[in-house]
Amino acid sequence: MSNFFSVKKKITSFNKTISVNGDKSLSIRWVLISSLATGVSEAKNLLMSEDVLAAIKIIRKLGIKVKVNKNVCKVYGKGIDGYKYKNNLILNAENSGTLGRLLLGLLINSPKVIKLIGDKSLSKRDFKRITDPLNKFGANFNLNKNNGLPLTIKGNQNLKPIYYKENRGSAQCKSSVIFAGMRTNGETIIKAKKSRNHTELLCKFLNLPIKVKNKKNYDLIKIKKVKKIKKLNYNIPSDISSAAFFIVLTILSEKSKMVIRNVNVNPSRIGIITILKKMGVKIIFKNQKIYKGEKIADIQIKSTSKLKSINCPDRLNSGAIDEFLILFLVAAKANGTSYFKNLAELNQKESPRLKWASKILKLMGIKTILSNDSIKIFGNPKVKVNRRIVIKNFLKDHRVFMTSVIAGLTFGGKWIIHDKDSIKTSFPSFLKILNSLNK
Ligand code: S3P
Repeated sequence: MSNFFSVKKKITSFNKTISVNGDKSLSIRWVLISSLATGVSEAKNLLMSEDVLAAIKIIRKLGIKVKVNKNVCKVYGKGIDGYKYKNNLILNAENSGTLGRLLLGLLINSPKVIKLIGDKSLSKRDFKRITDPLNKFGANFNLNKNNGLPLTIKGNQNLKPIYYKENRGSAQCKSSVIFAGMRTNGETIIKAKKSRNHTELLCKFLNLPIKVKNKKNYDLIKIKKVKKIKKLNYNIPSDISSAAFFIVLTILSEKSKMVIRNVNVNPSRIGIITILKKMGVKIIFKNQKIYKGEKIADIQIKSTSKLKSINCPDRLNSGAIDEFLILFLVAAKANGTSYFKNLAELNQKESPRLKWASKILKLMGIKTILSNDSIKIFGNPKVKVNRRIVIKNFLKDHRVFMTSVIAGLTFGGKWIIHDKDSIKTSFPSFLKILNSLNK
C-alpha cells in the first residue's frame, strides 16, 4: 500500500458531530501509573496509537501483564515494587518523548542496568534535560554523545530527595521528577513553570502524598514516598491535540460547522482555544463536566471568514505547544502579521517544527520571517494555492503530516504528502474521520 496521501481539491462544506481518539498524555500516564498499582486497572477509550502501544510493550517487558481488547485495556499491576528487572533489558520508547522521559523517573531505583532506545526521531531529541535532575537523586545515566538515546540507566536503592527548578514549562520533565520523587524517602520539591498537569491530577485522584500549590507564574509541588497505588479505572476523554486539526479545518472551510464530543479541555491544554478566540474565532464549550479532576466538554465550532492576526503572548506557549503547527495555518489566512515568540521548544519536538512550519507556509506562498525561537507570519485573507506541493523527509512527524493535509484541503493546490502512516503515532483515525465529513 502506498505510504503517501494526495489532496486534489478543497473540502466542501460540512456540518458534522465527530469524536476523536483518546488523549495521548492521559493514555501514556494511565499505562505507567497502572503498572505500579496494586490490582487490575481498566481503561476505556485508551488511545490505541503506536506511542501508547510502545508504553504497553515496555511494561510487559518489565513483567506486568496487560490485556487489550479493542480500546479497552486491563493492566495487572503488582504494586509499586512489582517490576521484574531482567539482565540486559532493552526498552524501546519508539517515537515517544513523553514515554521515554516519564519512564526514566519510574526506573530510578532499578537494581540492574537498563538500556533505553528509540526511533530515528526520538534519538535526535534531548534527554539531558531529564537525566540532569534524575542524576541528583543518585541514579546513574550514560547518554550518547548527543545527550540523547540510546542511554543506559542504573538506578539506586538509596535515593536522596531533590529540589528541582523546572523552567522550560515541560510537563515531561516535571512528571518524570514526580515519579522519581514517589520512589524516594524524604520530600522532593519541584518549582515548575506552568505546564499540563495531568500527572498531578491523577496523583490527587489516587490520594497519593503529593501536594500542589498553584502560584501565579509557577506551581510548587511536594512529593513524598508512595507506598501503595490503588487500581485506577479510567474512561479516557478525547485529545484536544487531535481535535485541533478538525477545529482548524472547520474554521478555514466554507460554511461549515462541527461539534467534537467529550474532549479533555483541561485549562493547561487549551492554549489553542485562547489563541483562536483572540484571532476572532467563536468557539463554544458545551456539556461541561469534571471527570476525575479533568475538565471535559463538547467543542462547537464554525467557519470564520474574518480572522485577526495575533502577537501571541508567550504565557500561552506551553498550553498550545503541540498545536502551533496547525495554528500557523490560521495565521496564514489572518488579516495582518502574526508573531509567535520564545518557541525554541518547538524545534525540540518530533521534527524541528518551527522550521517545518515556515517551509510549508512558504510553499503556500505565505511570507514568513523565521528565527531560532520565533516566527512572523504575513497573513493573507485571500491566500489560495494553485501549485503542486510535495511534503517529505519530515522525520515522520505526525503533526507535520496532518497539518499539510489540512492546508491542502482548505487552501487548495495539489499536494502529495509522504509518510501517511505517521498518523499511527497519535491519531490513527485521522483520515477515516476526514473521509466521513463529505458523506
Ligand atoms: C507532553 C508534554 C509536552 C508535549 C508532548 C506531551 C506530556 O512536551 O509536547 O506532546 O504528555 O507530558 P514537553 O513536556 O517536552 O513540553
